[in-house]
Amino acid sequence: MPGKQPAHYRGDPVREEVLGYGSQSITDHEKEAVVEALEGDYITRGPTVDEFERRVADLVGVEHAVATTSGTTALHLTGRAAGFEAGDEVITTPLTFASTSHAATYCGAEPVLADIDPHRRTLDPDAVREQITEDTAGIIPMHYAGHPADIEGLLDVADEHDLTVIWDACHAFGGTWRDEAIGAQRDMAIFSFHPVKNITTGEGGMVVTDDDDLAERLRQLRSFDMDYDPAGHESEPWYQVTEGIGYNYNVTDMQAALGLAQLDRLDEFKQRRDEIAARYDEAFADIPGLRTPPEPVEADPMYHLYAVEVREEFGCDREEFVNAMHAENIGVQVHYVPLYYHPFFQEEYGYTEGMFPETERVYEGVVSLPLHAEMSDDDIDDVVRAVERLHAHWN
Ligand SMILES: Cc1ncc(COP(=O)(O)O)c(C=O)c1O
Repeated sequence: MPGKQPAHYRGDPVREEVLGYGSQSITDHEKEAVVEALEGDYITRGPTVDEFERRVADLVGVEHAVATTSGTTALHLTGRAAGFEAGDEVITTPLTFASTSHAATYCGAEPVLADIDPHRRTLDPDAVREQITEDTAGIIPMHYAGHPADIEGLLDVADEHDLTVIWDACHAFGGTWRDEAIGAQRDMAIFSFHPVKNITTGEGGMVVTDDDDLAERLRQLRSFDMDYDPAGHESEPWYQVTEGIGYNYNVTDMQAALGLAQLDRLDEFKQRRDEIAARYDEAFADIPGLRTPPEPVEADPMYHLYAVEVREEFGCDREEFVNAMHAENIGVQVHYVPLYYHPFFQEEYGYTEGMFPETERVYEGVVSLPLHAEMSDDDIDDVVRAVERLHAHWN
């Protein structure tokens, strides 16, 4: 039984094995599904991908789901389908992964950052309004940690200025907002199925939309921008022609089989993530200086991250907290270094550190604690004990 002294200060760690902040959960159910797909006629994009897309579309409650190779390529396809191009500006949040902005950059458009609402840690509709110019073509909000952004407020801004909205819902698969799935809102939403996400296909992503024209464009771009059935060539079955610069973002039937098997376990994943978040909420409620995640606003989110904010009263700063948790063998991570700190944003668009006060305040303290469906009760206890031990050390 380790003593009370944190490992960072010469004590023994709360556990011997490193606990990752995120992880996939794979059982025989997934393994059997993938082997079955491997034994089928298709191993590239085939009927299992169609089935996976149908299941996701039905679950989200939209007409179309278009599977792609990652959340990043899903974002690229949405930017192209939206028609973003050089000269356009697209407003997004600084507190996100770089790929969110690539729905704009990959198309030659400029990503314009706007500050966040510090409660939700997502794009603030009023801050978006301040950034709108005659060149603004779209908005890309991100549902941080799985909690929905201010969907209504952001759709209002989009309506006022006739903007395309692309929801980066990489964190939010499986959650609901006002009883509809997060991702069902117009114009398009994208998911990531990277192993730390709410379900996984190894690598993978999906675009969902109700718009028939956007869906057709997304599908064609995903596969070489190829018209496989051009008018006037009905009797020439070989006649397939590229209409523009498309991509090979096709996913395989093996990945889709994995995705379908993960969907079978979605309720189990949600229940476990909810339980872990609830146990953390309870354990940390009375620790001064440790701000627990915001109450969900009109939502039942699938908790992707459990991101706390370490404040002065806790006794140490975030850097010390992260290193001390790592010394306890508890994997924690910071989501995210704001985009305007990245050399690319500074060199390409002239951003500098300190530009967005609310993002700064959140970034200073934010840390994601381990949260994934494979965590045991003992794992949760280890995280709680490590946090309590650090707090006791500094108080
Ligand atoms: C918010 C957000 N957007 C985009 C991505 C990119 O997804 P992927 O890793 O599947 O390309 C991620 C995943 O890391 C993410 O967390």
